This record gives sequence, C-alpha cells and structure tokens, in this order.
Amino acid sequence: MSHNYFERLDRTVRLHQEWRTKECLNLIPSENRGSNQMRSMFLSDLGNRYNAPDKFYRGTKYADELQSLAEELARKAFGARYADVRPLSGHTADMAVLLALTRRGEKVLSVHPDNGGYPGITHLGLGSLLQLENHYFAYDDRAVNIDVRESASLIKKEQPKVVFFGASFIPFPHPAKELSAVSEGTCVYDGSHVLGLIAGGEFQDPLREGCSLMIGSTHKSLPGPQGGMILSNNEEVFSKVSGKIHPGIVDNIHLDRVAALAVALIEMIQFGKPYAQAVVKNSQALAKALVAGGVKVRGASAGYSKSHQVLLDYDPERLKLIAARLEQANIIGDNGGRLGTSELTRMGYGPSEMDTVAELVALIVLGKKPPDFVQKKVKSLVKQFQQPRFVLTSTPKPFD
Ligand SMILES: Cc1ncc(COP(=O)(O)O)c(C=O)c1O
Repeated sequence: MSHNYFERLDRTVRLHQEWRTKECLNLIPSENRGSNQMRSMFLSDLGNRYNAPDKFYRGTKYADELQSLAEELARKAFGARYADVRPLSGHTADMAVLLALTRRGEKVLSVHPDNGGYPGITHLGLGSLLQLENHYFAYDDRAVNIDVRESASLIKKEQPKVVFFGASFIPFPHPAKELSAVSEGTCVYDGSHVLGLIAGGEFQDPLREGCSLMIGSTHKSLPGPQGGMILSNNEEVFSKVSGKIHPGIVDNIHLDRVAALAVALIEMIQFGKPYAQAVVKNSQALAKALVAGGVKVRGASAGYSKSHQVLLDYDPERLKLIAARLEQANIIGDNGGRLGTSELTRMGYGPSEMDTVAELVALIVLGKKPPDFVQKKVKSLVKQFQQPRFVLTSTPKPFD
C-alpha cells in the first residue's frame, strides 16, 4: 500500500520535472530556475534543524554562522545596512511590515489589485485581516504605472501611515522618489517581483529613493529558493519590523532555504549585472517581436517593458482563454496575460530566441495554428537550453 503511494508520488514528481523543465517554455514572471549549486543545499542536514534568536536550541554553531553569512550577503547584494532573511515568503515579509507599522483603522496606500497590485496587502488580504483602511494610488493605465501628480495629492490629503510601492504587474519602475518626498508615513518597497533586477542595478534603487524598507520574495526575478527577505538602511524602522518576526511570525526559519538563498545572493553579487541587463533586453525584444507579429502588448508609450515582464493587452476573459491555449502548446504563462523573461534568460535564451518565442506565442494568440503544432516546436526549442547560466562554476559536492 505505502509502496504504491511512493511509486505514485515519485512518478508524479518526475513527470512534473520532465514536463516543466524539458518540454515547456516557462514564462511565469513569479518563477525562475535555481542553479544546481543553490538547489543542492536542500539535500543538506540543515532542513531538519532548528535555531532560534534566544539560543533555546543547542547544536547551532554552524547554523547561526550560516544565517549571519546569508544576511551579510544580502546586505552586500542590495547595498543595505540591515538584512533579515527569516521571512518564509514575500507575503510573510509583507505581514511583518503591516503588523509592525500599523494599528487597526490606520491608512495604507498601495497599487489596487485591478491595476496589478499584490492582493495580499489590500482589502482582499492583510488589509481586511488587520482591519486597516486600504487606499489606492491613482493609476495611469496607458503608462501602466502609478500616476504621480494625482497620487501626490492623495498622499497629502490622506496621510497614509504606510505607503507601499511595488506590485505583481510591474513593467516599469515606480515613482518612489517623487512620492516618498511628499509622504510623512513610512515608505516601503515590495520588490517581490523585481529583487533580481534591483540586485543587478537595472531597475530602480528603492533604498536610495526614499524607502525605509525593501521586502520581497527571493524566487522571482531573484533566482533563489522560495522565501522572503527584509532589507533596510533605517535602523529604527528595520528593528520594529524585524522584531516582529520571532516569535510572532516565523519560528523555524528553514535553514536549508537560508543556505540556498546565500548561494543565489553570491550569484547575484557575481553575475547580477549581466543577468539583469539580459532579462530587460529580452523583455524588450519579446515585446517588440510580439507587436511586430500582431499581438497587442501594454505600455507602448514607455517602450513596453523595463523589467522581466511583458503584459499582453486583451480583456480578462480573452487573457484566460489565451493562457489555456498557450498551456496546451506547453507555453506556460498566467491568466493575467503576464509573460516573464527571467527564467528564459537564466537558461541562456537571448534576443534572437525571443523572436522565436514571440512567433510561437503569436501563432496561439492569433489562432493561426493549433496548440499541437506549436507544442512540437516548443519542445525542440526547449531541448537546446537545459543549463542555467549566471551560475558559479563549482560542481556541487554531494552531502553524505
Ligand atoms: C508584489 C508581491 N508581493 C508579495 C507576493 C507574495 O510573495 P510570496 O509568494 O513569496 O509569498 C507576491 C506574489 O506573487 C507579489 O507579486
């Protein structure tokens, strides 16, 4: 009986692995491909261990050192005086921010989910759980960005306690500098999507644009393990937020994840610049080729993209239909019409491959060929790009 379960489990995981890594074009901007060196850390003993800030557990001398090392690397990668790698995800970091900096009934400003804001911090998520008063930036749909003039008036009028920049749909840098200048509340940048680009110096630099904190996921454009992180140059705000993590939000910090994050941060320190430049170049190439092929893309007035995201421009029902048909062709995106270039860039695709990817996407979006036809072409393309780039050359040594 248990033998059968294991066989089923093993088979399912292997089928997933084979399909998503060897047969699919992975275009979800929330995802990426970790290096073997990063992933090998999950096979160490660390994943079975605890450490704690009050030193309750014994046997942690190396685990504690590892945590300090990961935080040192995070500070270096982002030019931050303070770093906390304990949050288990971007959402957990968001939660720490709101629990530390707001009280019931206080105002929080962010991008509305209808405009691509992350729902988790809005009235749909933590906003209602913590009984906050959620307000939303004025948004310029054509520019696919926050409207600076109207949002500045809104900030002056409402004086939100926390202003959250960053979003789930984020093709262009947010006007953090302009708007933090008129805010008396704490400005926080949720860089979940763009941390890899920020580490590479290619997007914006929130900690030097008036934000007291930058938080985010460690697995989207930053090709690390699934997890979260808090960064800051402001001691007072950082200690308030970091102080909420234990024992309030995270108990076991998942030490194997922390080790894996440290590897990804070394990769960013070493290769972040060329990686981030290549990601943005690929987004622009993909967008231009899509448009040339007759596919509608948002953000034309600002050059389509300065991030890892290209946004298709169709109504929500059509986007869902497109995503389903793309999936049948092994082109994996999401129902919101986002196409991401981080993972393809990691796997070595360049601008000329973006032309090919755009052609394949266009065949589906415009209904010119059936998914089966496109799927065959996708599979033969994907076979040529099987080794992550921008990684350390050392071969991971197995753990005994
Ligand atoms: C802007 C933003 N913040 C936070 C999150 C949550 O991140 P995680 O999945 O790491 O909890 C997301 C998820 O996509 C996001 O887009």
